[in-house]
Amino acid sequence: AKEEENAGNVKRQLAKLFDESLKATVPNEPDVEPLVAACTAKFGDYQCNNAMGLWSKIKGKGTEFRGPPAVGQAIMKNLPPSEMIESCSVAGPGFVNVVLAKNWIAKTIQRMLIDGIETWAPRFCVKKAVVDFSSPNIAKEMHVGHLRSTIIGDSLARMLEFSNVEVLRRNHVGDWGTQVDLVSENMYPLCGSFSCLLISSLYIDFVGTPTFISLHHSVQLKDFKHILQFGMLIEHLFEKFPNFEDVNETAIGDLQAFYKASKQRFDSDPAFKEIAQKAVVRLQGGEPKYHQAWAQICEISRREFDKVYQRLRVQLEEKGESFYNPYIPGVIEALTKLGLVEESQGARVIFIEGVNIPLIVVKSDGGFNYASTDLTALWYRLNEEKAEWIIYVTDVGQQQHFDMVFSAAKRAGWLPSDGSTYPKASHVGFGLVLGEDGKRFRTRSSEVVRLVDLLDEAKSRSKMALIERGKAEEWTEEELEQTAEAVGYGAVKYADLKNNRLTNYTFNFDQMLNDKTGSLVLDHADERALGLHLLQFSEVVEEACSNLLPNVLCEYLYNLSEYFTKFYSNCQVVGSAEETSRLLLCEATATVMRKCFYLLGIVPVYKI
Ligand code: ARG
Repeated sequence: AKEEENAGNVKRQLAKLFDESLKATVPNEPDVEPLVAACTAKFGDYQCNNAMGLWSKIKGKGTEFRGPPAVGQAIMKNLPPSEMIESCSVAGPGFVNVVLAKNWIAKTIQRMLIDGIETWAPRFCVKKAVVDFSSPNIAKEMHVGHLRSTIIGDSLARMLEFSNVEVLRRNHVGDWGTQVDLVSENMYPLCGSFSCLLISSLYIDFVGTPTFISLHHSVQLKDFKHILQFGMLIEHLFEKFPNFEDVNETAIGDLQAFYKASKQRFDSDPAFKEIAQKAVVRLQGGEPKYHQAWAQICEISRREFDKVYQRLRVQLEEKGESFYNPYIPGVIEALTKLGLVEESQGARVIFIEGVNIPLIVVKSDGGFNYASTDLTALWYRLNEEKAEWIIYVTDVGQQQHFDMVFSAAKRAGWLPSDGSTYPKASHVGFGLVLGEDGKRFRTRSSEVVRLVDLLDEAKSRSKMALIERGKAEEWTEEELEQTAEAVGYGAVKYADLKNNRLTNYTFNFDQMLNDKTGSLVLDHADERALGLHLLQFSEVVEEACSNLLPNVLCEYLYNLSEYFTKFYSNCQVVGSAEETSRLLLCEATATVMRKCFYLLGIVPVYKI
């Protein structure tokens, strides 16, 4: 199955014409795919780049052609007639340049205004996708890394939804961990060079940096952090509220403060530490009181996360790690039956070709870990939810983990081994958020930046800017507030999405907020340029979506505003002879721009 063309996708419509031409030009090479791309205005609007590749394919086979330019000429000659095309020419080593017909561009835009921009939506052959994004950890503050995941994931989900794909927006919150036997944690001496001093690494989160951290255990460390935190928080909860029944979130108040206080207890009192460790075991054994306390803590965290999602207008459905717990044994069992799971140093692992560490799926103490949960979640999404494309948005640091999980799924036959066909799993990695000192983004007192504080600041800065422009007198307080939010949060999102996601990005508020019916005829060069750019919306969304790169859409939006400004400064709209046509062009620009904003998750502001 392949993505189809649609009414607004110039590239695909041209590709269809070139496909016919190629079949006529080289009937003996039926598998040649047309290579069509938008190009610089000097030569034309689009270009077909098949001639050279085709030449190297056919030259040894007694062809009548003499070199790539002749192949290009033939491709041009064999193009079926079409109202899309005004003229063609062949340049250099056989590039076929196409100038689109002005009237066709105008007509196509006008059709969109009547039928709606939905007719320009890309058409993917997948019906259902999972986007696993945001996914913060319970009892911990969301940090800027989660902000990136939230913003990027939301935009990808919006683009897929626009493309008529049903998207399951999944918040895979870290609400569980695995049982850790503190003394006999599986010591897994691996690959010689990674010595594993587990006892020190266990305390990484509590005591400071350990001397050795085994790569092998980096994932288990994560689990340890979660679950032991729960033990610590639960016991502190019981201490503070001996009558557990009266606990509610107002009594606990700020979870952050509560966390700090319980951590202090944990660090200073060995007896408390021991109880906290035992609490983990009781929680995992399903003791109701412990389970209830855990649920309470999750609920308080959840409310904090929801505040951020509401401000960012991001929708998510929580299916946390704990959701998959009941399915894990069955999945491991199935993988074992397939012969994938091997016994190794007391643990049960899956070896992955080309990776020198195995994926541990059952620890030596019988407990499950981050990988067991992710394998199970992948299985669930493919088999129970019947999703065809599963997309994970996390920092690049987790790339190896996902590569290994996907490889295991391929070995199990859950996913085709050719990663380009569906069902498909993709890891969308992103770089770090840096402060202006080039280091990890932290507050002055070197604490993790709280998202709520960051959003507050974005809003208050944009409000100040609006007040400086005299808007406080012009607008109602409500208008001022709403605009300050739209501009402030919009700036945060745009600053994130405009970068290729893999690059680290430097957080800078100043730069962020500084960013500066009738019939349609496109006679003026700037009208035509704007029209052509509008028409490229569809293929750009398709590209951004298929390659999971929102920055492509950002760049398009940026250029759109430039084309529009150029048009607007050189072509009089109201009161001109072309008024009706130009108003339509403005309307089409607004329609496309609105959709871009929407797809990036940014709220547009209609007056400033
Ligand atoms: N909770 C994890 C973290 O904060 C991210 C989870 C990503 N999703 C997943 N299916 N593993 O790093």
